[in-house]
Amino acid sequence: RIKLAVVGGGSTYTPELIDGFARLRDQLPLAELVLIDPDTERLELVGALARRIFAKQGHPGRISWTGDLDAGIDGAQAVLLQLRIGGQAARHQDETWPLECGCVGQETTGAGGLAKALRTVPVVLDIAERVRRRNPAAWIVDFTNPVGIVTRALLHHGHRAVGLCNVAIGFQRTFAALLDVDPGQVELEHIGLNHLTWERSVRVAGQDVLPELLTAHGDALADRLRMPRTLLDHLGAIPSYYLRYYYQHDAVVRELRDQPSRAAEVAAIERQLLTLYGDPALDEKPELLSRRGGAYYSEAAVALTSSLLGDTGDTQIVNTRNNGTLPFLPDDAVIEVPATVDATGAAPLPVRPLEPHYAGLIAHVTAYEQLALDAALLGSNGRKTGGRAEGRRAVFSALLAHPLISQLDHAERLTDELIAHNREHLTWA
Ligand code: G6P
Ligand code: MN
Repeated sequence: RIKLAVVGGGSTYTPELIDGFARLRDQLPLAELVLIDPDTERLELVGALARRIFAKQGHPGRISWTGDLDAGIDGAQAVLLQLRIGGQAARHQDETWPLECGCVGQETTGAGGLAKALRTVPVVLDIAERVRRRNPAAWIVDFTNPVGIVTRALLHHGHRAVGLCNVAIGFQRTFAALLDVDPGQVELEHIGLNHLTWERSVRVAGQDVLPELLTAHGDALADRLRMPRTLLDHLGAIPSYYLRYYYQHDAVVRELRDQPSRAAEVAAIERQLLTLYGDPALDEKPELLSRRGGAYYSEAAVALTSSLLGDTGDTQIVNTRNNGTLPFLPDDAVIEVPATVDATGAAPLPVRPLEPHYAGLIAHVTAYEQLALDAALLGSNGRKTGGRAEGRRAVFSALLAHPLISQLDHAERLTDELIAHNREHLTWA
């Protein structure tokens, strides 16, 4: 009897998750699903739609919702985290103030990502602690960004957690469509950190077809990623969309300065979605939801949860503890790679030695993530802090170590901006 809880269940993304649970019920036969969210008004709308989707698809599982975290997680074997502290308003800030220094404004990459980590880690750790107290055996599946840092925080505190992102499953589906094969036949050699990954090979029936894929569909792939074809050919690998912030940093900054923030775009989509969700005749995930970035996240969630609860031992691409897999990183770094998933968690498969191009950037960003976590932990429960000076110092250290910042004057200015824009979320500020 599987019971799942979703924290942030009032998200406009939730119908994507529900649709996946409904379609894939043989893989993960849910008896009970609880949506948890402090925004009870939105929860009501989303919860009612979730029930209609289940009903339409003949799913026998029971869906309920609550604003009470402890009640909601009671008895759940897995808890999915998909929350966003401060909502799109905070995201809009993360995406804009770094631009003033000529740095990328993004919710996971660069200074904005650090701000999000600082707001999020203390809340997630508090939730995880409450999950552990109620259900010590429960798994935490973290979708909450920045997934690498949040997962590292969870593992650092001994939680049973796995971090998940839809970039890998998105590539798998895209490649499968281009190759005209079943997605299950496509195996990715996906390496790196969350939102800092490359596909080094694409195997179908044990054969690497990446060279052919690049020859036949390189232009289409490059267009989709909005990076030049020459870069893909040069690497002989396919970088994730997020590598654009590195490979084309200055161009991206110029672009971002000239357009509304993604947060503003998403807020507009969300308003329309909520109107749609309020229509009692709607009983499926609306087309409009495909304009959000979360494609296939439900399928990744179903696959991971069913492997954890069902002890399957299959391979999935997740965020988990390095444990020597990338020998140039600390054991407790969190990496995003193919891993064997069973009832004991996710264990990375061995990775072929990485070329310096990848190893260098991965090591650099891992160092930043470690310092980001140090800064974020200053705000979590039970930590005595040295107050403002210590907090400021920790934020500055993380920013200075980020490869996209690294200059002293930028790091200083961004430290002030980050603190000014997030004061209410920083216990020490
Ligand atoms: C992708 C990323 C997620 C991110 C999302 C943003 O799915 O993997 O980590 O949250 O895009 O999508 P949005 O519609 O909010 O811009
Ligand atoms: Mn992601």
